[in-house]
Amino acid sequence: MDGSRPSWTAFMMAALRARHFVSTPPPRILDDSLAMPFCGFTSPDQPNAVYERLVEGLSRFGERALAEELATDLMIAGCARSRFFEDRLAEARAGGVDQIVILGAGLDSTAYRCGALTAGATVFEVDHPATQAGKREMLASIGLAPPANLSFLPFDFEAQSLADALREGGVRSHQPTIFGWLGVQPYLADETVMATLETIAAFPAGSEVVLDLIVSTGSAPDEDAMLAGSRQALASAGEAFRSTYAPDDFAARLRERGFAEIIMTSFQDWLRDNAERLGGHYVKKRNTSVLVAARL
Ligand SMILES: C[S@@+](CC[C@H](N)C(=O)[O-])C[C@H]1O[C@@H](n2cnc3c(N)ncnc32)[C@H](O)[C@@H]1O
Repeated sequence: MDGSRPSWTAFMMAALRARHFVSTPPPRILDDSLAMPFCGFTSPDQPNAVYERLVEGLSRFGERALAEELATDLMIAGCARSRFFEDRLAEARAGGVDQIVILGAGLDSTAYRCGALTAGATVFEVDHPATQAGKREMLASIGLAPPANLSFLPFDFEAQSLADALREGGVRSHQPTIFGWLGVQPYLADETVMATLETIAAFPAGSEVVLDLIVSTGSAPDEDAMLAGSRQALASAGEAFRSTYAPDDFAARLRERGFAEIIMTSFQDWLRDNAERLGGHYVKKRNTSVLVAARL
């Protein structure tokens, strides 16, 4: 990413989590009660206005109805991937994993909000220095002290060694660890994605990585025009997509690197299978990404 300012996509995804929180009564896909303050919002009108601006921006590339569909898909996906991570985190903690590393954390609020899931664990937020500095300024401005078990590791995937950064930042490489890596893969080149998997694969058995993987789409041509347009706009804003994967190929690459248990599910299937506890059957219309949990 262009490192001159905090990630715009990190803000947008948190704003969409905030919109879900203020517009949906519980039970929700995700209860991100801190997305509002983490975005600096004080009124429910604000996430709604960000959503509306997103729809307007996407409408430059096609019909407004399609733009609304894509914006809603993004909101559902952003909430679902975080809930999927919370689920995997709960299982990992029950299995004795006490080290949590959140790669490309953005405005993720897990460490501040999910006390039951993080108590007794050490948590590390690893993110681009510009994004992390912006988050820390926001935390200070709203008077929220980070929890004592959280450490910040400023890190640029494209310029530094993750293994070195983790070691220097105090992450214990002999300890089973769960890595959250949500919404980051597309912004990294293939070799960086693979290097990251190799760094994680050096952790002990029982360690796990949880991510949402951007896949090439089978959408209709007019939908493709909107996706292509939105990705072009992202690139102009300094956050270009640099890698996409065929799910089977990615699974094979995980296996080659030693990941023994791989869960790979479409958002559609995950939303359907979890509809009861999510409070409804949310439908994500486009097959642009899949949820992945891979354990060593
Ligand atoms: C779409 S946001 C996702 C944020 C968060 N994980 C979420 O789910 O809301 C992308 C994140 O990747 C981070 N990122 C992108 N490129 C990066 C790089 N080269 N080095 C470090 N972080 C990077 C950004 O700082 C941002 O936090």
